[in-house]
Amino acid sequence: MNTIIEPFRIKMTEPIRLTTREQRIERLEKARYNVFYLDAEDCIIDLLTDSGTGAMSSNQWAALMLGDESYAGSRSWKKFEKTVKSITGFKHIFPTHQGRAAEGILAQALLKKGDVVPNNSHFDTTRANIEFVGANAVDLLCQECYRTQESLPFKGNMDLKKLEICIRDNGSQRIPFAMITITNNTGGGQPVSLENIKAVKEILNKHDIPLIIDACRFAENAFFIREREPSYENMPLLDIAGEIFSFADAATMSCKKDGLVNIGGFLACNDDRWAEKFRNLLILREGFPTYGGLAGRDLEAIAVGLMEALEYDYQVYRHATVRYMGKKLESLQIPFVKPVGGHAVFLDALAFLPHISTDRYPGIGLVNSLYIEGGIRSVELGSVMFGKTDKNGREIPAPLELVRLAFPRRVYTQSHFDYVLEVIEEVWKNRKDIRGYRISYQPEFLRHFTCHFVPE
Ligand code: F0G
Repeated sequence: MNTIIEPFRIKMTEPIRLTTREQRIERLEKARYNVFYLDAEDCIIDLLTDSGTGAMSSNQWAALMLGDESYAGSRSWKKFEKTVKSITGFKHIFPTHQGRAAEGILAQALLKKGDVVPNNSHFDTTRANIEFVGANAVDLLCQECYRTQESLPFKGNMDLKKLEICIRDNGSQRIPFAMITITNNTGGGQPVSLENIKAVKEILNKHDIPLIIDACRFAENAFFIREREPSYENMPLLDIAGEIFSFADAATMSCKKDGLVNIGGFLACNDDRWAEKFRNLLILREGFPTYGGLAGRDLEAIAVGLMEALEYDYQVYRHATVRYMGKKLESLQIPFVKPVGGHAVFLDALAFLPHISTDRYPGIGLVNSLYIEGGIRSVELGSVMFGKTDKNGREIPAPLELVRLAFPRRVYTQSHFDYVLEVIEEVWKNRKDIRGYRISYQPEFLRHFTCHFVPE
C-alpha cells in the first residue's frame, strides 16, 4: 500500500505560515545564507532536526497535569525511574535536562587529559564534551558506511578491527570507557546490530573497558534489529531494547528523540562508584537527583513517551515515512545515502552538485536551494560542520558532503512529505544553476551554527 496511515488523529493544529519565493530569498540573504539564523516561522516545513521537535500524545499531555513538583522524592520521579529501569535495567538513573548534560557529567566524572574514547561516531556535543576535558574522541565506524550507494542492513556498526587496534595503540588504561551510538546519527542514522554490540562488548571485556550507549534513538534502532537481524523478528521492541542495554555499563540519553518529548534526558549506570560521582556533579549542575534538570511534569511526559516510542505500530509508521521518501527519491534517481536511516534522509550533496567543489560547500548550496524553492529547512552535515584545517590553515574536507532532512516525530503527514519531494525534484531539475558559497565569518568552534556565507 502506498498510503501511510498515521496511527493518530490530530486534535490540535499549529498553523504553518506560507511564504513566497521572493520573501524567502530576502529572508535567506538577511540570515547570511545560514539557515540557523532563519526565524522558524519563515520555514514551511522545518526538517532541521528531529530533536525536541516532536508532537506529544494526548496521554503525555494528560500526564503533564499529574506532575508532582516536590523538590525531593516526587511521585513523578518514581514513575520516571521505574520506567527507565524497566527499559534499560540500569541500577542508577539520573535525570538531566537533555542529552549533552548527561554527556558533560560523564566526561567530567570519568575522563582526564590524554584519555581516549572510541565510538562508532561521536555526535558533535559528545565529541565536544570529551574534548573539553582534554580527552580524544575517536570514530571507528565500519568502512561500508562511507559507500553511500550500498544498501546494507547495519551501516552504523563499529569496526571491530579498528577497535582492537585503537586499544592496542593507546593501551586500555587510557580508555576509561568506549561508546556506541544507536542509531548512528552523523553516519546517516544507520542502525547498529545486536551482534555488533555483543562483539564490541566481548573485545572491551578482555581489556576491562566499560561500554556506554548513546541511546538517543534506541527504539528506532530496536525496530531495525527486529526487521533485519535473524532471530529477533517477533520480539517485542521492549525486549530488544532490554537486550541492547544488557551489554552496556551505562547510557546517555536525549529524551528529545525517542523519549518523544520536547526537553529531557538521563544518564544511567550500574556501578556504585560511578553513580556517586555522577550524583555529585548532577547536584552541582542540574539539580537534586530526583529531578535533575527537569520539572516533575517533564518526568511524567518522558515516562509515557519512552513507552510509546517502543510501540510497534508507531515504529512501523515512523519508518514507513522515511522509507517512502527514500523510495520516491530512488525512482527520481536523486542521490541519497542508502538505505535510509531511522530518523532522517541524507541527500548526497556531492553527487547532487558535482560542479561545486568541497571548498565551496555543495551541502550549503543544496540546503539553501531547498529553502528558496519550497521553504524547507534542512541541515548540512559536510565540510562546514565536520571540516578540519591543517597546519597551514588549509581546509581538509569532511569524508562526506550530506544534507540531512530530519523528521520530527508525529508532526508532518504524508502530504507534507509529498510536498517536500516535489520541492526536491524541482531543485534537482535546476541543479546546474546552483552555486557554491564562501564563508565570510566564522567562530572558533562549532562554526556551522553561526558562520556567515556569501554566494559565489
Ligand atoms: N547524541 C546524539 C546521537 C544526538 O543526535 C544528539 C542530539 C545528542 C547526543 C545530544 O542530545 O541535543 O539532547 O543535548 N542531536 C540533535 C540533532 C541535536 O539534531 O541530531 P541533546
